[in-house]
Amino acid sequence: GADCAPYPQSTADREAIEEAAALLREGSTVAFPTETVYGLGADARSTAAVEAVFAAKGRPSDNPLIVHIAERSELDGLVTEVHPSAAALIDAFWPGPLTVVLPVLPGVLSPLVTAGLDTVGVRMPDHPLALALIRAAGCPVAAPSANRSGRPSPTLAAHVLEDLAGYIGGVLDGGAAGVGLESTVVQVQPDGTAAVLRPGGITAEQLAAVLGPGAVTSAPAPAVDVAAGAPGPSTDLAEAPAAASGYSPGAAHAAGDNSPAPRAPGMKYTHYAPRGALGVVRGASAQRVAEAAADLLQAAQRAGEITGLLLFEEHRALYPANAAACVVSLGSLASPEEGARSLYAALRRFDEAGATYILAEACPDTGLGLAIMNRLMKAAGGTVVDAG
Ligand code: TXA
Ligand code: MG
Repeated sequence: GADCAPYPQSTADREAIEEAAALLREGSTVAFPTETVYGLGADARSTAAVEAVFAAKGRPSDNPLIVHIAERSELDGLVTEVHPSAAALIDAFWPGPLTVVLPVLPGVLSPLVTAGLDTVGVRMPDHPLALALIRAAGCPVAAPSANRSGRPSPTLAAHVLEDLAGYIGGVLDGGAAGVGLESTVVQVQPDGTAAVLRPGGITAEQLAAVLGPGAVTSAPAPAVDVAAGAPGPSTDLAEAPAAASGYSPGAAHAAGDNSPAPRAPGMKYTHYAPRGALGVVRGASAQRVAEAAADLLQAAQRAGEITGLLLFEEHRALYPANAAACVVSLGSLASPEEGARSLYAALRRFDEAGATYILAEACPDTGLGLAIMNRLMKAAGGTVVDAG
């Protein structure tokens, strides 16, 4: 009843939820808010509906989708077993930004959802509209992030429309997503340790607090991301020269050279990418990073690039005024939640500004910083400028 509703739903909300649920029930697609990012939902049992999701996103069919549920009990109808360590993580973090990869029960879900794997990733989102939608639809909801494949994930309904208007049944608008980065994807091994396949909203430190120190590992190369064509950052780091030698004209648009300047997304496989070329700058100190970035940006600007700079608030004063045509802050390094929340919108801001050459400051890869760096590195296609 209304008294136990977790969120005061207006009549308008209830009507919108019912309309969105009807779309799911009739095999259409609908985008909806979750606490991480907006998802593009479809009935996970229907191959035609799931096909429409892959088509709208332009997503390669070998990259499996996450299945969203609203009750813990629904899990038993989707998987064959839940390892006690997986159960402990579920108890600790559901509803919330944790996806657990489990052995799939054959014959229930469309094989497209799992991309032919014998496992399925499942999560229970911590968002009142998402939970109400799943309940009203009465089916498990397969939902990848509601962006065109390769683009930054959507944290607003407007982002969904930017990418997918005309390709989907509708969007349920729930305002801004709270976490701003996708869920953490984990797979529990037979020995009870958890492999992090994708860092996200639940940190490695939080997982370790439940499973014990040493029980959390990060997967060397997330198999599914490789299948989707994203390059592993380590290869690119190895290719990158030790120090930024300076902006070279055209480098931002040339694939395969080993210039430290960002190369154009599309030349390499990138995820979460803005349209301009993006590079991540790191170095021994914030001062070194700022000096190297400012020099490269100035040279790029002189060469006719429209420049962008993504920085942390503490470092703003280290840059000259007008260091770039478009400067966007991820907030304070002391609150990575803020950086996570604003990262994808920031990447889209560079597109609005028409930025062609963008540099982003690296951040420490602890806590949520690990997920932020993971997304930045993928958006940059692994391109790193080492400021020394
Ligand atoms: O926060 C999120 O997880 C958002 C919201 C909408 O829930 N969804 C999301 O979905 O990020 P997507 O499709 O953009 O990312 C799903 C990730 C991919 O890295 C995929 O490869 C992985 O989960 N994944 C899904 N099923 C898997 C499986 N059976 N084994 C390994 N990885 C899997
Ligand atoms: Mg995605």
